[in-house]
Amino acid sequence: MTLLHPHTRLAPSPPALLDLHPTPDDMRADVIAGLSATPKTLPSKYFYDARGSQLFEEITRQPEYDLTRTEIALMQQSMREIRLAVGPDAHVVELGSGSGRKTQLLLGGLASPVAYTPVEISREMLLDATQRLAYAFPDVQMLPVCADFTRPVPVPPSLIPAASTLLFFPGSTLGNFDARQSVDLLSAMRETMGDGGLALVGIDLVKDVADMEAAYNDAAGITAAFTLNLLARLNRELGADFDRRRFSHVARFSPERSRIETSIVSRGLQVVRVAGHAFVLEDGEPIHVEISHKYTDAHFDALAAQAGLRVSHRWNAPADRFGLRLLEPA
Ligand code: AVI
Repeated sequence: MTLLHPHTRLAPSPPALLDLHPTPDDMRADVIAGLSATPKTLPSKYFYDARGSQLFEEITRQPEYDLTRTEIALMQQSMREIRLAVGPDAHVVELGSGSGRKTQLLLGGLASPVAYTPVEISREMLLDATQRLAYAFPDVQMLPVCADFTRPVPVPPSLIPAASTLLFFPGSTLGNFDARQSVDLLSAMRETMGDGGLALVGIDLVKDVADMEAAYNDAAGITAAFTLNLLARLNRELGADFDRRRFSHVARFSPERSRIETSIVSRGLQVVRVAGHAFVLEDGEPIHVEISHKYTDAHFDALAAQAGLRVSHRWNAPADRFGLRLLEPA
């Protein structure tokens, strides 16, 4: 018989996974379509291979990119009010597989949350993140769902009935979607949360242009490396022949669209080959790769309204550098 030391912590049993078998991304088709379009585009979702995810973590530690630090500090400062606004026994549903500081703050700060459901397209990331949280929150039932979070998601029932469903979408990730996609995503959230549900959304706010641009042009060049890593990924995974030295990272604020627009710009006239297709790039021609919206209250409230949601509570960081919004059905 094996005796366990009284302080040995047993690994929680693997969480039950609801696998909705999301359609895997067709990177090849997306890239060919994007490079055939005018202007050329590449989807920012392809930034996040292993190296890209590592570089993103590094971005969040750069002095110029204060979104993550500011949101975490805001959550810490506002948690008592968030707990009161949400109420006890919530089922927290996070869009993306959060395992980090923000998820821990929320699960640790709410009053007796009954269950936690991360929604994530990558099975591996989902299970990894859930397993880690299961150790930290043994009283919260882990109910991961493998699905595309841009669509409505069925929330698995918890053993202890939840008083409400609280969607959690931090990091201003909403800002990476265009206006139409944002309304679609918020509408999907409205459907997922149900009539008594809520959503806590993190949004980056409009501020001084120099500050916003610096966040995407850090002096250490980490954001540039993050953007240009996409080309290395395409070379490796699609047999493309991008020469990274012949491209520059450019990120500028567009006041008309209230967003940072990031491009990979061709240095000189060149031809690149991707999966058997050849593409001509003029000198200075941009490939649009990412948008990061910066919100005013009027802008965000209008998006929410179009999705049948309204803002019930707002928390802003000092100097309005970042916002958390609690949404409820309109
Ligand atoms: C994940 N997302 C909200 C980040 C942003 O600020 O748009 C991604 C990023 N891109 C460059 N830096 C950070």
